[in-house]
Amino acid sequence: MSVAEIFQSMAYGPAPESAAPAQEWLEAHAPALPLFINNRMVTPREATYFDSVNPATGQPLIKVAQAGTADVEDAVRAAREALKDWKRTPGHLRARYLYGLARQVQKHARLLAVLESMDNGKPIRESRDIDIPLVARHFYHHAGWAQLMDEEFPGHEPVGVVGAIIPWNFPLLMLAWKVAPALATGNTVVLKPAEFTSLTAILFCELAQRAGLPPGVLNVVTGDGQTGALLVEHPGVDKIAFTGSTEVGRLIRRATAGSGKRLSLELGGKSPFVVFDDADLDSVVEGVVDAIWFNQGQVCCAGSRLLVQEGVAPRLLERLRARMEHLRVGDPLDKAIDIGAIVAPVQLEKIRRLVEQGRAEGATPWQPSWACPTDGYFFPPTLFTDVAPASTIAQVEIFGPVIAAMTFRTKSEAVALANNTPYGLAASVWSENINMALDVARAIKAGTVWINSTNLFDAASGFGGYRESGFGREGGREGLHEYLREPWEAQGTEAAGSETLPLAANGHGEAPSSGVDATATAPLAEADGARGNGHSSDELPPLGLPAIDRTPKMFIGGKQARPDSGYSRTVLAPDGRYLGEVGEGNRKDIRNAVEAAHAASGWATATAHNRAQILYYIAENLSTRGQEFAARLATMTGQPLAEAERELEATIERLFCYGGWADKYDGSVHATPLRGLTIAAHEPIGVMGLICDDRQPLLGFVSLVAPAIAMGNTVVAVPSERYPLAATDLYQVFETSDLPPGVVNIVTGARETLARVLAEHDDVDAVWYAGPDSGARQVELASAGNMKRTWMLNRPPRDWRDPAQGQGRSFLREATQVKNIWVPYGD
Ligand code: NAI
Ligand code: MG
Repeated sequence: MSVAEIFQSMAYGPAPESAAPAQEWLEAHAPALPLFINNRMVTPREATYFDSVNPATGQPLIKVAQAGTADVEDAVRAAREALKDWKRTPGHLRARYLYGLARQVQKHARLLAVLESMDNGKPIRESRDIDIPLVARHFYHHAGWAQLMDEEFPGHEPVGVVGAIIPWNFPLLMLAWKVAPALATGNTVVLKPAEFTSLTAILFCELAQRAGLPPGVLNVVTGDGQTGALLVEHPGVDKIAFTGSTEVGRLIRRATAGSGKRLSLELGGKSPFVVFDDADLDSVVEGVVDAIWFNQGQVCCAGSRLLVQEGVAPRLLERLRARMEHLRVGDPLDKAIDIGAIVAPVQLEKIRRLVEQGRAEGATPWQPSWACPTDGYFFPPTLFTDVAPASTIAQVEIFGPVIAAMTFRTKSEAVALANNTPYGLAASVWSENINMALDVARAIKAGTVWINSTNLFDAASGFGGYRESGFGREGGREGLHEYLREPWEAQGTEAAGSETLPLAANGHGEAPSSGVDATATAPLAEADGARGNGHSSDELPPLGLPAIDRTPKMFIGGKQARPDSGYSRTVLAPDGRYLGEVGEGNRKDIRNAVEAAHAASGWATATAHNRAQILYYIAENLSTRGQEFAARLATMTGQPLAEAERELEATIERLFCYGGWADKYDGSVHATPLRGLTIAAHEPIGVMGLICDDRQPLLGFVSLVAPAIAMGNTVVAVPSERYPLAATDLYQVFETSDLPPGVVNIVTGARETLARVLAEHDDVDAVWYAGPDSGARQVELASAGNMKRTWMLNRPPRDWRDPAQGQGRSFLREATQVKNIWVPYGD
């Protein structure tokens, strides 16, 4: 090519980054990489290995160990052993270690970047300028948290041994997202990298050795999903932090159900990229390039659905095609490359298959005229038009350089299209009208919304999804909670748990649950003391004071409702005397209640002041009828009247507490490097299922309902199975307290049956469960259907009278989602 021709075409020449230092590292480790356990590089017990391949060439780089049962055992044991000292290590010392890790990453940044690009196929420009700097940033940021731990989280304890399982799209960055917060908060880690990309994890361990990290604090076992499953199932692991496919996330949810293991899941997405007709189209084009061609589109939050307002669609698509024509696909180590290689043949096949399916379903693909290199695993940037919103390529995560374009007319149509997905990870909104863009950001169900920008990340800003994108946040203060236990949990609750009420306070003090619908009706014969607990009746207040021979109904959509089953369940006093009956709720009642709760979604946009007023009003009206409530509570549970009065007072105080909190649980503005605002807004989760245990049945009920509605959720609450009258009587109080219909719905009946229906329900967004461990397991299992958030209040069971256990910020946190909205400055 002559100089004149070069000037004519303005084509870039190749600008290769040297692979030599990475090659040397590989040669020094050939033929196979070790595992990292207890600060030592060890060979796996069974010498099973597989190749890690360079996706740009198809050539193996080195062998990686397939860790087996014994290796995982060794690693978990090392982590458990190390935990004893590490969790007692002063925050300042842990801060120094994390700082040291950040420094090591910076000192070896180029080697890490080159190795990452060779192993994963991502362009060196990205690994060098984005991945590795963010890794260092993550360790610096969390060094700060380690330092501030005692001040900011007094009395908190680490969760314990964390099993971290990460994907191949950002190998070292995902390591950092897990390891930095875990270590900062005093946990120890066993990490399993993805089988396609284990190299930089082992290099990182060498850096950890240099940083002098104590033995066992970080361990790495390589291998495929089988190794991951071993970690998930290991009883010595206290928490699983997972990033990967929704499919595997679901498996892990089921595998850990009922184990008491903590779980955070960062899963897939099908994120909308919404362009309004007043957007700056040149910026939009560059935005699309970043949204879907960054990392070959193998990004969980990739903007893979391009939603364009009709009027500008032809112009935008034309400019986009022109830009695509100039994108360069090729050698990841070439600094002038835009798009590198797809990680592995299996992923390339998946992309091809979905693209074919898109074509078969009637959409029109467009690709640039040039051809991709053929020696590695490459796929050209692809734009689909004529995409039907319900078609496969509009719904399924492709995880490749493929974007599906659709058009909309109005703002509300844009929001509806954006939310037409089971996922909820991220979104971009493009418009010069910031008022409107912020309104759309509020309406889109996603954990992160970028305004006139895309794919911005920072350690200070939490990242994570809604719905099938998983739960839990990584980064920032909210991310730390995933790795911490509350002070009262940390102290153990022996003291609180054994100081008993006359009833229902040993463990859960459960009467056996009737469980299935078949036993729905309590035979009247049971009224002869079958459920007596041995308390002599002279301890009880005399019956008959309050009028109790009523049959309270359920409370659905602000109306008293008879049970669909037509059956009632008998409520007995502890001495077996008949107290009354409540409806035997079933699947249909729950469905109606969920519908009513959805219909009341206006509650979410009521002002916080208004919600507070209503909570105070409920407290006031409850107080007016206090004597009656206390007497009934005493009769029902068999506790002394004075104790019941204390429960009533505590209930009123709890309502006040959340009346107070309603307008004070503020979000924040994060200090990210963005020139602009990164706003972390607290939003209600949506419709919540609340399942109460039998402890302090009035206070327990309000302890769940009040924080949930204070934050703007609407709820379907299942009161104590054994003492339901405490809650059913409350609906009269609700009716007189201006609570809008449908905000609180009450379904009585068999706890486990109703819990299960709620946990399985696709339109329920979160479930809180207080009850026995077996019930908790069932709820966690069933929740995997739509990956709803669950919060188990069973381990240990809570004493609702103790404010440390029964109220406060942890309830508010579990009643809200954090949405991070990135708003850049500038014109
Ligand atoms: P994957 O979900 O199978 O892999 C993620 C990690 O989980 C890997 O470390 C893997 O070894 C491990 N794993 C697999 N099965 C496991 C099990 N039963 N128990 C414990 N750990 C297990 O993802 P994969 O197969 O690599 O990619 C499949 C699809 O998943 C991709 O095409 C993409 O659509 C999606 N994906 C999404 C990611 C995200 O960040 N949202 C990341 C990677 C993949
Ligand atoms: Mg590889």
